Amino acid sequence: MTEKAKRAATREAEVGLPSGLPPGLAGSPSQVAAGSLLSVEHLSVADVAGILAMTARLERMNTAERARVLLERTIALLFYESSTRTRTSFELAAKSLGATTTLVSDKSSSIEKGESLKDTGLTLRALGAEAIVLRHPSSGAASLLARVTGLPVLNAGDGMHQHPSQALLDLRTILARLGLGGVTSQVSKARPGAPGPEAINAKTLDGVTLVITGDILHSRVARSNAMLLPRLGARVVLCGPPELLPESALGMGGGIHIERDFDRALAQADVVMMLRIQKERLAGFDLNLAEFIARYQLNAQRLAAASPNLLVLHPGPIIRGLEITGEVADGPQSAIEEQVSQGLAVRRALLARALGVAA
Ligand code: NCD
Repeated sequence: MTEKAKRAATREAEVGLPSGLPPGLAGSPSQVAAGSLLSVEHLSVADVAGILAMTARLERMNTAERARVLLERTIALLFYESSTRTRTSFELAAKSLGATTTLVSDKSSSIEKGESLKDTGLTLRALGAEAIVLRHPSSGAASLLARVTGLPVLNAGDGMHQHPSQALLDLRTILARLGLGGVTSQVSKARPGAPGPEAINAKTLDGVTLVITGDILHSRVARSNAMLLPRLGARVVLCGPPELLPESALGMGGGIHIERDFDRALAQADVVMMLRIQKERLAGFDLNLAEFIARYQLNAQRLAAASPNLLVLHPGPIIRGLEITGEVADGPQSAIEEQVSQGLAVRRALLARALGVAA
């Protein structure tokens, strides 16, 4: 085996692409507090419908009503990795529901002094935290924290494993933009008479093809979306070079396909999700960037050749000029900012659910 192949195999084994976690680390739902969200694997279609229905109910409330939902409840945000969108939206979502929040980050806490995840979690619990939102560089960290603290834990991204709230906000953005599932947005209204999100089922995304392109191997966002969306009927096409997209990705579940040619993938797409190359996880260390850009960048020319209704998504952070051009990111087919707003809405529901509040 060449050095390059060995490194790729080690990374793949580490992330264990198909399910992402070795047995025992996954933390079955029965071992953790109800209301935890560790992985999309534990969500049934009915759970997804319930979360999106709660999102809609919270959205319809006025500000004062919403601010009573989690009044006098305490939520800790524990971030061991940088984050802009996820951290801020969880924090603003919690505050808009009236909760008290506290942010602990690895840069300014005893984590810097070597305190373990377990001890940090137990300390937050002793201080009155009733739920913890965790981002951590290790796959399985959210399950571990849920098991040692017994508190509901919301996984805000664990290593290369899962990012379930991102997949839910991506789903809501897709439903809103395609006018499906009774979901509304600033841009599209639900069809009159269409059933609400509580009716979301295994056929809601029938006939919809989502293409995910870029650094799939290191992406917890890709993994969560590729596992969640086919359960609602979507076809997921993964696209990228073998260094960033090993064949084993097909093992993540049914409804997943690989197409290495981006133009061919785009020709079938209703939605395209672009992903950044995750340099911090050693992605692209031996990638020819000029070649990657030539083959996989989403630019105006490629977009013009695809369906005029193609919806463009990106979880952020965007590296303009690399996986996507600024023109496309800012263009009319881009729903990138809407994803951020949907994140705030969906995370409100996840926080209320975590604390067992029926909103
Ligand atoms: C992603 C993440 O952190 O997994 N961003 C996000 O949460 N919106 C994607 C990335 O870091 O590239």
